[in-house]
Amino acid sequence: MIDTENLSRKFGNLTAVDNVTLHVDEGEVFGFLGPNGAGKTTTVRMLCCLISKTSGKAQIGDFTVDTEADCLKIRKLIGILPENVGLYDSLSAYRNLDFYGKLYEVPDDRRKENIERLLKLLGIWERREDLVGTFSKGTKQKIAIARALIHDPQVLFLDEPTANLDPEAAKTVRDFVLELKKEKRTIFLNTHNLDEAERLCDRIGILKTRLIAVDSPKNLERSLYSRKTILHLETVTEAVSTVVKNLGFVKSMRVSENKLILDMDNPERDNPELVRLVVSAGGNIQYVTELKSTLEDVYLKLIREAAPK
Ligand SMILES: Nc1ncnc2c1ncn2[C@@H]1O[C@H](COP(=O)(O)OP(=O)(O)OP(=O)(O)O)[C@@H](O)[C@H]1O
Ligand SMILES: [Mg+2]
Repeated sequence: MIDTENLSRKFGNLTAVDNVTLHVDEGEVFGFLGPNGAGKTTTVRMLCCLISKTSGKAQIGDFTVDTEADCLKIRKLIGILPENVGLYDSLSAYRNLDFYGKLYEVPDDRRKENIERLLKLLGIWERREDLVGTFSKGTKQKIAIARALIHDPQVLFLDEPTANLDPEAAKTVRDFVLELKKEKRTIFLNTHNLDEAERLCDRIGILKTRLIAVDSPKNLERSLYSRKTILHLETVTEAVSTVVKNLGFVKSMRVSENKLILDMDNPERDNPELVRLVVSAGGNIQYVTELKSTLEDVYLKLIREAAPK
């Protein structure tokens, strides 16, 4: 649904986005992570035809961001929550949405229906007649999300949707994103919140001017070191450690207090056998867990290792 090939953008001498090639499937929630100034917003703005690219290709569905005619079609296909919400303070929540709905030429009935559905879903229907200027930052953010969806777009770009939101409001927005995912919409999500990325995204791209990595959160977490199983035992006996150490599928074993930390290639396949053998050797197993790095560990490592611009 979203495709780029060597997409680049320069501002004068500064390269903001450097040769980014990526593909986002229809119905996928794709997270874009990267430090301040990494080029996330610039990428989104190019994809939404808001700024031109310097070189490379970008395509949304069947349309390329090169021509004005295609950009018009792209604008109908996509919804965007920009970094700065940009609503009319002197209009009510309802009128703001109604105004943008008209701009998108959403028919009257559909517009009414959508405004009511979206404001109710985001918990602000009761405040629909209040002026947007009287709302808190978080409520404005929610209205801007509703605005991005007023014309039922297939593809949604959310640039830091939960920045500035309190934990409860952030949860409302995250649940909302999960609802949109069920509707098979394609969602491109810029965020600094690693936990949010992990919970919402099918895949994550890590950007630092260049695209450093793209994978599912699970695979990224596993990429830092080889896979490890931890066996928590009542006590580590000689009999148990001898059996485990000599298993072909255990690449290395470390003992730490009452735990065995085992390096294995395929724990899903081999853990059942491991458990059976440890039990027959008289081991009393309390827990079997996986030693994983967090997305934060991986993110920080990749960002630190990435060559400076
Ligand atoms: N209109 C512009 N003119 C000049 N430089 C710009 C412009 N827009 C962005 N930049 C520069 O491009 C780089 C990328 O900025 P961008 O806003 O895309 O980063 P970002 O990843 O969205 O960062 P943040 O996490 O802080 O939102 C930055 O160095 C920024 O200063
Ligand atoms: Mg940004």
